[in-house]
Amino acid sequence: MSSSHRPLRIALNGYGRIGRCVLRALHERGGSDMQIVALNDLADQASIEYLTRFDSTHGRFPGEVRVDGDCLHINGQCVQVLCAPRPEDIDWQALELDLLLECSGQYTSRADAERFLQAGAPRVLFSQPMAGAGAVDTTLVYGINHQTLDPAARLVSNASCTTNASVPVLRLLNELIGLEYISITTIHSAMNDQPVIDAYHHTDLRRTRSAFQSVIPVSTGLARGIERLLPELAGRVEAKAIRVPTVNVSALDITLQTSRDTSAAEVNRLLKSASESEYRGLLDYTELQHASCDFNHDPHSAIVDGSQTRVAGPRLVNLLVWFDNEWGFANRMLDVADYWLQLANRNN
Ligand SMILES: NC(=O)c1ccc[n+]([C@@H]2O[C@H](COP(=O)([O-])OP(=O)(O)OC[C@H]3O[C@@H](n4cnc5c(N)ncnc54)[C@H](OP(=O)(O)O)[C@@H]3O)[C@@H](O)[C@H]2O)c1
Repeated sequence: MSSSHRPLRIALNGYGRIGRCVLRALHERGGSDMQIVALNDLADQASIEYLTRFDSTHGRFPGEVRVDGDCLHINGQCVQVLCAPRPEDIDWQALELDLLLECSGQYTSRADAERFLQAGAPRVLFSQPMAGAGAVDTTLVYGINHQTLDPAARLVSNASCTTNASVPVLRLLNELIGLEYISITTIHSAMNDQPVIDAYHHTDLRRTRSAFQSVIPVSTGLARGIERLLPELAGRVEAKAIRVPTVNVSALDITLQTSRDTSAAEVNRLLKSASESEYRGLLDYTELQHASCDFNHDPHSAIVDGSQTRVAGPRLVNLLVWFDNEWGFANRMLDVADYWLQLANRNN
């Protein structure tokens, strides 16, 4: 705990997959200065309690969950449950918040993001990349650029799960070997923006298709997201994404044209060494015979599967990188939140 002993008050807007993982990860970590004091979602209280207690992907909540009045009690702490569709329907100031975590995914422009500030939220961390660089004050990937955060920032994006997974690997290999061109395919688990059986979607024809019946290409902003974090790679990255019929854990298939000759052994040695030093806790490394479900509930941003590293010719590298798209990302939301609030406290 910090010397002030005052809990840092956080609220969640949107209590779906990421919102619930953030709340649960905070409780599983324990010993944090941060406390979730309110959550806002369109769902009713009974469903909120139920889906907090029972999670098909991460299992039962490891603690007490109980609803009483407008409180969702988690291990004895009251989280006030709100149900308002618009940011201005809530007096965020009255909640005496230090930080709001926006996890509904519904607000992507600067104008929309500022609605939370106008309604009294002091700072907002968004669980997705925003529309254009100016939509937030900065986009952070914890472990890469979080230390550039200006304490005066009010709107911050936590980037995407795929950006968090790819950037540590790319930055490292660009620094130590040099990268000419990068091509990435994200192999991503299904998400709640896809139907179980074919249904209408208003902006994307492929998202009308049954999530558990097909391998489905979808659009991705990963290449631009990487360039935002690693401008030295601008114009040299492309990416595509396919959704696959699993419920959680995704992978990156990364192809790299390097600037000098290398080998699978060298690439693996560099990544393994970084996972034990500068990227410990963010990047992991394995050569075991894994399948994706082995990484469910893994808090790392990325796990390099060294058994799948291939080098075709001396300068064409192919990597397989696993990541728990829910749990890893939720833990990075907490890492950024914690860093931001400690920084803000020091500058007060
Ligand atoms: N899931 C992942 O692996 C992952 C990883 C990284 C980042 N993200 C990003 O995080 C965001 C949320 O994703 P998710 O997977 O958690 O989605 P989700 O499971 O659909 O959760 C979103 C929640 O927000 C609620 N909501 C919708 N409109 C709202 C509003 N106006 N005010 C308050 N709550 C509202 C939704 O309710 P209804 O269901 O009633 O609409 C739902 O409960 C997206 O931007 C996504 O791209 C997701």
